[in-house]
Amino acid sequence: MILEAKEIKKIYQGVNKELTVLDNINFQVEQGEILSIVGPSGSGKTTLLGLCAGLDNPTSGVLTLAGESISQMTENQKADLRNRKVGFIFQNFQLLPTLTALENVMIPLELQERTEGAKAIAEDLLERVGLSGRHNHYPSQLSGGEQQRVSLARAFSNDPQILFADEPTGNLDEETGLIVENLLFELNREKQTTLIIVTHDLDLANKTDRIIKLKGGRIISDQNVNNASIR
Ligand SMILES: Nc1ncnc2c1ncn2[C@@H]1O[C@H](COP(=O)(O)OP(=O)(O)OP(=O)(O)O)[C@@H](O)[C@H]1O
Ligand SMILES: [Mg+2]
Repeated sequence: MILEAKEIKKIYQGVNKELTVLDNINFQVEQGEILSIVGPSGSGKTTLLGLCAGLDNPTSGVLTLAGESISQMTENQKADLRNRKVGFIFQNFQLLPTLTALENVMIPLELQERTEGAKAIAEDLLERVGLSGRHNHYPSQLSGGEQQRVSLARAFSNDPQILFADEPTGNLDEETGLIVENLLFELNREKQTTLIIVTHDLDLANKTDRIIKLKGGRIISDQNVNNASIR
C-alpha cells in the first residue's frame, strides 16, 4: 500500500461559521494503481489531493504516504518526502514565473542535488510533452496548455513513486489531452508509478483502474473499473 487516508476531515474556519470541506474520507491505494477522483466543482477534490501529498494538513484523521505518517511530520520532513517520492501537477500549474520552461522542469532535480545530467533529463521530458522548441520560454510566454505540459514534465523529473495530477488535461485540446494521458499511463507501465488523477473528463476516468466519486466533501462511491485493455 502506498497511500492510506483514515477518517480525514478538513474544516475551514469562516468569519462566523465553519465550513466542512471534507468529511470522513477513508481509502487505500496500492502501489502501481491508477485512481481517478471525480465530482462536482467545490466537492473537495483539490483539497483532498493537497492533503494526500502533504501540501496541507487535515483538521483530523491520519494520512500515510509511502509508509510514513505524514500527519506527524514537520514541514521540512514533508518537503523532503515530497522531493524524494511525490510528483504533483497543479490545477493552476504553479510554474515559477522567473524561470524558463527548462529551469522549471529542473527544479525537483536540483532540490535533490541531482545536478549532473539534470539538463539532459529536463530536455528529454520537454521533448516528450512536445515542447522541444520552448526550453527558454518563460511561463508568461507560454499558452495555458503549454504551461500544463511543462508542469507535467516537472512532476515527472524526480521519478516519483506516486504522482498526483489535478485536472492534467483540463486546459488541453483533445489531441494534446490524449498525448498527456498516454504519457501518464506510460509512466505507470514503465515505472509502476501510482497515479491519482482528479478529472472532470469521464473518458479519462473510465480508462483508470478505479473511480472515487466525491460529493459535498464525502465519498459517495468507490468502484473498480476493469480497463487495463483500453490503455
Ligand atoms: N483556503 C480555503 N479557505 C476556505 N475555503 C476553502 C479554501 N480552499 C477551498 N475552500 C472551499 O473548499 C471547497 C472545496 O474546494 P476544492 O478546491 O477542493 O474543490 P474542487 O472539487 O477541487 O473544485 P473544482 O472542480 O472547481 O476544482 C470549496 O467550496 C472551496 O470554496
Ligand atoms: Mg479543484
